[in-house]
Amino acid sequence: MIETNITKMFGLKYPIFSAPMGPFFTRDLALAVSEAGGLGVLSNVNIIGTNPVEEHKKSIEYMIEHTDKPFGLNFLTSRNNIGVKEMCTDVPKIVMDNPRMREQCVYWLTSAGSSKILPASKPFQELRERSEVKHFHVAPAVWLAQKCVEAQVDGIVCTGTEGGGHQSYEKVTTLVLLQQLAKAFPDLPKIACGGFATGEGLAAALSLGAGAIAMGSRFIASKQSEFNEAYKKLIPPGTPQDTGLFTGSFGPIRLYRNKYALEHPAPSTKEEMMAYERSLTMEQRTRDAGAYERIYNGDTENGAVLLGQSIGIIKSIDDVNDIIERVMKEAESAIRKNAAMLK
Ligand SMILES: Cc1cc2nc3c(=O)[nH]c(=O)nc-3n(C[C@H](O)[C@H](O)[C@H](O)COP(=O)(O)O)c2cc1C
Repeated sequence: MIETNITKMFGLKYPIFSAPMGPFFTRDLALAVSEAGGLGVLSNVNIIGTNPVEEHKKSIEYMIEHTDKPFGLNFLTSRNNIGVKEMCTDVPKIVMDNPRMREQCVYWLTSAGSSKILPASKPFQELRERSEVKHFHVAPAVWLAQKCVEAQVDGIVCTGTEGGGHQSYEKVTTLVLLQQLAKAFPDLPKIACGGFATGEGLAAALSLGAGAIAMGSRFIASKQSEFNEAYKKLIPPGTPQDTGLFTGSFGPIRLYRNKYALEHPAPSTKEEMMAYERSLTMEQRTRDAGAYERIYNGDTENGAVLLGQSIGIIKSIDDVNDIIERVMKEAESAIRKNAAMLK
């Protein structure tokens, strides 16, 4: 048994979260993770033609229909995400009106934008007062964690540059970020994210001050994840070097180096990245928007394949339950081994 501030906060058996992976569906994945004793997180699904509030509602209904375990949901609060304000007001109202949703939908994770929009929403304030829900925000750098603290978050997700998918301009590794944040905010609950796929990684995160880990790429390579089989099959033979940090219409993003990724630049500075993003033509933006649909349909060359460096330590596509049990076993044995070094 490993008990941490995060397992206690959410009443979890294990300190393992699934990372949100919008715009893709992660309902079955979130369900499997929560059922296995971790905390499954529903993604902000906003593929063209979907209504994010409706999709959140359907996802939450799906979860409460199939499990009585706790789970979470993600809001992308970036300015260019469609319907952010509506999500932050309408979804809390939906949850507030349903006692089971209120009880189970406990983890509200905002990312990729402001940490202030959700706590500023009146319906969310009411929900927070009348339930045990917690608000976390993704903090990829110390100055961004400071903003989260000012927004009175209940905790942060510390995501380093090795992580898959949407990234910040900051490019700080998870290893350094965790140590910085442990020093700067010792009492703030933290979830480590980016580069985790094993129990040794979990043990390291715990000793660096986190109370849990969140994994994205590891869970894509699972039997239950809704990702296209062609997407999943890229992972076991993959190496960390098969991924790179690129930019485009959606800002910095870690992608598998396929044809689509290599059509995009990988500028070294934040200023260069932002200048490129501003220079994008409507045609380029439209092509980028279509890249999610292409990969959703299994086009691994022309689609955006979001993956982290952790693919280098994922060797098979497994059942979610087996992944979680194995990570826990490895973590316990790593912690024991380390403790035995004390003389
Ligand atoms: C396919 C994919 C989609 C993602 N979409 C989101 C998202 O919608 N919101 C978000 O906060 N992070 C998103 N991310 C980042 C993950 O939440 C997480 O930070 C990352 O997967 C961690 O690195 P790992 O893949 O090594 O576990 C995405 C990552 C992937 C791989």
